[in-house]
Amino acid sequence: MPRGRAAAAAAFVCLGILRGQAPVPGDGPRYTPEGMLVKPEYREWVFLGSGLGMTYGPAAGGEPRFDNVFVSPSAYRRFVETGRWPDGTVFVLEVRLAESKGSINQGGHYQAGVAAVEVHVKDEKRFPSKWGFFAFPENAATARVIPPGANCYSCHEQHGAVDTTFVQFYPTVSKAAKDKGTYQER
Ligand code: HEC
Repeated sequence: MPRGRAAAAAAFVCLGILRGQAPVPGDGPRYTPEGMLVKPEYREWVFLGSGLGMTYGPAAGGEPRFDNVFVSPSAYRRFVETGRWPDGTVFVLEVRLAESKGSINQGGHYQAGVAAVEVHVKDEKRFPSKWGFFAFPENAATARVIPPGANCYSCHEQHGAVDTTFVQFYPTVSKAAKDKGTYQER
């Protein structure tokens, strides 16, 4: 970028901060010009916990899988302070296959390859219900938003303990929500 333009961009960001508009955080959602979500680089994000073989519908059965949940670090920090997810929060649900036979293992399960990656984004201006859901097919770099009528929205709205998210299953943040009074028993 030419120096003049870089300076102008920096001034624009500063102006945003002065006016009280939060600048887009570095770990917020990124979209293509067509409005597809770019798959987040979540490997170094905050790990909220793992579910093992969880089933929340009749389509259950088969080998158990691990669900690993990650959240963007800036949203995590804000949640610990306030018990609320800020605009721009990004969650990743990484589903991994479970294996039991390998190396010295005698019992129990350990995690293997990724079976699915799903994302939940809070972007108040972009989505009618403030949150959007995405599912990334294998090796896909981008994904289109799942339409509002899908069961992702209804189940999360009806059963999520905090703002359509399943904080009741994330022990490292559920206490913050209870302390701040944003937790709903569900
Ligand atoms: C019947 C209820 C139900 C439906 C339908 C559902 N989920 Fe979830 N979802 C859950 C539960 C329970 C958890 C938390 C436990 C876990 O799996 O680790 C969760 C967690 C998540 C998370 C982690 C962040 C959060 O919000 O807590 C993402 C991302 C996610 N789901 C995406 C999806 C997508 C995408 C769909 C639709 C294709 C979907 N879910 C449909 C119940 C549901």
